[in-house]
This record gives sequence, C-alpha cells and structure tokens, in this order.
Amino acid sequence: MTPPTLPLTLSPVPSPVSSTLPSTLPIVRTVADLRRHIAGWGGGARVGLVPTMGALHAGHLALVAEARAAGAERVVASLFVNPKQFGPAEDLDRYPRDEAADASSLTGAGCDLLWAPSVADMYPPGFATSIAVAHLGDGLDGAARPGHFDGVAIVVTKLLLAAGPAIAVFGEKDWQQLAIIRRFVADLTLPVEIVGAPIVRDPDGLALSSRNIYLSTDERRRALALPRALAAARDAIVGGAEVAAALAEATAAITAAGFDVPDYVALVDGDLLPMATLAGPGRLLAAARIGTTRLIDNVAVVPR
Ligand code: PAF
Repeated sequence: MTPPTLPLTLSPVPSPVSSTLPSTLPIVRTVADLRRHIAGWGGGARVGLVPTMGALHAGHLALVAEARAAGAERVVASLFVNPKQFGPAEDLDRYPRDEAADASSLTGAGCDLLWAPSVADMYPPGFATSIAVAHLGDGLDGAARPGHFDGVAIVVTKLLLAAGPAIAVFGEKDWQQLAIIRRFVADLTLPVEIVGAPIVRDPDGLALSSRNIYLSTDERRRALALPRALAAARDAIVGGAEVAAALAEATAAITAAGFDVPDYVALVDGDLLPMATLAGPGRLLAAARIGTTRLIDNVAVVPR
C-alpha cells in the first residue's frame, strides 16, 4: 500500500480558545427567554444556530465562523450535554463541563447569544416523545451505541424548533450524525438550512474532539494511527486497491497502535450504505476505543 499522504486536508484552525477573555456573551436558560432575546433582534435577522455539548475547542469555534459564512447575521450557540444520547455505560457523568470557559471562547468567536438550558427545561417530567431515523441510524455508531441517534434526533429537533434558526451548523467529524440530521430535517420539513463544516485537526492530523482531553500523553501519540490509517486506506482505494483489503489493512494498523478492535472501519456512500468498490464519491469512517476514550474520524474518498 502506498504511504499515506499526511497531513489530511487541514481546515484553517481558528484562533486558539481563550479561557482568559472575560465573557460578555448574554446567556439565556429557558426557551421563553431564548425566543424573547431573538425577537429583540427584529424579525428580519437571519439567525444561525450552533448546537454544542460544550467543552468547546477550535472545531466548535469554526462552526460559528461557518454560520457567519453561510449568511447568519446573528449566531446563537446552544450548550446542552444531552443525557438522551449517552448509553448507560458511557461518559455522561465525566463529560467535560466548563460553561464560563465556553462562554469566553464564544465571545472571542463573535457569537451573539449562548443558550444553556437545564435537563428539566429540555425534558420536563412526563416527556415521552422520541424520533428514530430508520436505516441511517441503525449501522456504524448506531450499532455500537444503541439509542444514541434517537437521542441526537430528539434534542436537535427541540433545539431547532425552539430557536427557529435559518441556518444550523454541524461538524463533519460526526458524519453519520450529519446525514441523520439532514434526513429528519427533510422528512419533517423543518424550515432550516443544514450546513456541514469541515473537520478541524491538530497540525499532526488528529481530529479535534472534546474527548481528546481524556487521552494520556501516550494514548494521544498512538491515537494518530486513526487518521493515518484512514489516509492510507483512502490513498490505496483511490489508487485502485480492493476496498475490502484496504479496510482490513486500516483495521490492523489501528489495532496494532493500541486501539481496541475498531467498532467499524467502513467505506460508505451518501446513504451510509457500504461500498464494495469506489463507484462514486464515498466516505471512509472509523470508530475505535483507545484506553477509555472512543474516537471517531472520517475522510472523503473521491475517485480520480
Ligand atoms: O455533535 C454534538 O455535539 C451533539 O451531538 C449535538 C448535535 C449538539 C446534539 O446534542
């Protein structure tokens, strides 16, 4: 297999997150206050929504810039660690939370409003509604994390209905999530444009993730095997290698670096269906655990 081309396509990394900049960002907690604040901007303002679970890094701040680039005149970020998208054995309790630092970062990024609802605001007693996106939500992360995408679908629907943005921006690192959001937004005829933002990577190629802070120094070094294996498999497939062989080689490289056997390494089409050959543009996705940290990543695979 030809050596991987690294770094992967790097998106410009926005200014580093500053935790010292004092936050001047207005913060609202309830849907009523959110709507009042947005109404104060006047009916004509084109609002962009950047949904987050906090623990913000440069990748999140790039979403704010992406909202502006897509035409948002005002940008609202939401910060909500959504319990419905965590499984019982997952990291809900230890998920990093630092609202003050997040507000400060968003101030620096030019965000206009932070909406940080409580769990009781989002899911009051008696809450009983769920949304499942068939097929798209079943495989890949849906198989490894049962119920995860139902949790994402219900919370994103609630965020969109509450804020009523013209644009909502999501990172391409969560490629399956983005496909599912596009699907239910179309199925439910929600009047919002969904914008996907390119993955932001550290200079050595590791995709930024709020969960990277769980990695020890040694795990952080070994985690590079994930983007490197994807880059190598992409180059091999584009160069004419058998898809199955390239995926097997990537799986072996990831495992050899000290990851558990990956949950998946897959080449999929626009409907997230496996591609046995590179018959058109595809996406190469992988998820694997190193130590206690589960990482995901993906790259575009475009035929020459
Ligand atoms: O990608 C995330 O951070 C979350 O899944 C989202 C979209 C904010 C929903 O909780």
